[in-house]
Amino acid sequence: MTKSILKLKDISKSFSGVEVLHRVSFDLQPGEVHALLGENGAGKSTLVKVITGYHQPDHGDIYLDDALVQFVDTRDSRQAGIAAIYQELSLFPDLDVAENIFVGRHPQSFGLKVDWRKLYDEAHELLDSLGVTIDLKQKARHLSIAQQQIVEIARAFSINARILIMDEPTSSLTLSEVAELFALVNNLRENGTAIIFISHRLEELFEIADRVTVLRDGNYIATTKSKETSRDDLLRKMVGRTISSQYPKTEAPLGEVVLQVDQLTSEGLFTDISFEVKSGEILGMAGLVGAGRTNVAESIFGIRPATSGKILINGLEVSINSPQQAIGLGLAYVPEDRQQHGLIPAMQITPNISLPKLDDFAKYTWILNKKEKKFAYSAALQMEVRARSIWQLAKELSGGNQQKVVLAKWLSTHPRILILDEPTRGIDVGTKAAVHKLMSDLAADGLAILMISSELPEVIGMSDRIIVMREGFITGHFMRSEATQENVINAATKDVRIENLS
Ligand SMILES: Nc1ncnc2c1ncn2[C@@H]1O[C@H](COP(=O)(O)OP(=O)(O)OP(=O)(O)O)[C@@H](O)[C@H]1O
Ligand SMILES: [Mg+2]
Repeated sequence: MTKSILKLKDISKSFSGVEVLHRVSFDLQPGEVHALLGENGAGKSTLVKVITGYHQPDHGDIYLDDALVQFVDTRDSRQAGIAAIYQELSLFPDLDVAENIFVGRHPQSFGLKVDWRKLYDEAHELLDSLGVTIDLKQKARHLSIAQQQIVEIARAFSINARILIMDEPTSSLTLSEVAELFALVNNLRENGTAIIFISHRLEELFEIADRVTVLRDGNYIATTKSKETSRDDLLRKMVGRTISSQYPKTEAPLGEVVLQVDQLTSEGLFTDISFEVKSGEILGMAGLVGAGRTNVAESIFGIRPATSGKILINGLEVSINSPQQAIGLGLAYVPEDRQQHGLIPAMQITPNISLPKLDDFAKYTWILNKKEKKFAYSAALQMEVRARSIWQLAKELSGGNQQKVVLAKWLSTHPRILILDEPTRGIDVGTKAAVHKLMSDLAADGLAILMISSELPEVIGMSDRIIVMREGFITGHFMRSEATQENVINAATKDVRIENLS
């Protein structure tokens, strides 16, 4: 064994008396990609935050190059050469892309003025190496979540860290962006950078990680070379039982067309989008980051109404100018950026779940009554939300558990049309199977589901039909039986535009 670059010994951490890390040890070597694996709430992000000095451990030691260290805050660890991409994205909404990449570290000329030209040049170079084009002058608040993720990655890369920590960097990225990221990670590894990598996509771990450490309920379980383990072995270590990671959609009888979208156009965002979703059907929407899928969903849900085209619900043309109207028409939308649009972090789980239904629960004042409590409890149970109680604050939940709360909230509105944007983003393999089963059951109950997903196995496994978007146009349309990873990717990257789909 070579010398460790980072060593954790017996790290424990509690929040309000509840221990979430219990004597965890971890060893990181230069030039390795070391994956951290565990269910939602296992303690991965907390461990990351202990390493970067965001949290102080209650017990245990951290060694950098065999020397005992204590980071008082994240700036401290950054100075020691540790860069981290946190699970919660943390861009400054009013700064542009380039400024966000170099925030606090703007290149200066003559030690005084910000060298803007250099700033944009270097930002351009970085994004280029990631194989993406994002308008450098675009304010962060206008970026999609995947674009934000890419900016975070660029920012971490720009620091030239010796240790790079990535907490679910790929959760919103599609295959080709992940491939670019991995090429860069491989480069860094060859140059001796040590990398801690967290992902719920097991395939990725086998592709990129040299070693994998598994955590379960805040306990260290094992570290193995990824070459010497298997998917089943890792799953067993993670959950202590064998599970199937995907739940293909069961056949459901298709009913009437519930949602029809006809030549929907929103200038500059998407053009001539036409499709329909029947009751009992899951329509998958595939495409690369920036293809415009979320824009279409947002315009159907009334967040940003389209400039032309029609939306019909049960055959009747409707005009939807606000989410309230959409909800009134039986639509529900689980957004991609759940932290921003889906969750009220400072509130407890219970009101977070029952919020869309408040009218049912409270007549005059907003009181948490028995009915609401019971309802939130069963929804949280169904989604396998892991928390101390349903009164825990949403912001204290692990990333994946926050996602589950938002899903529970929208499902509780009993919609006729459900739009899901990356439904299993950040959700661990075990719960993913539960979410897939739930979607299948909802379709069987007659719901019409539009599912945007960047995970091809999910799109292919769960959809009755698939439409593919590229740069604001529909470029492919496949029945379940004809969809393969290859032809979906082809459609997502091809230039020509297919006319007239129905
Ligand atoms: N600030 C906090 N206050 C109270 N509890 C917290 C806080 N931060 C994390 N926890 C709890 O610590 C546990 C571990 O959370 P952590 O975020 O480390 O999980 P994770 O392994 O990263 O999960 P995920 O895969 O969902 O991101 C969870 O039970 C969570 O609720
Ligand atoms: Mg986490």
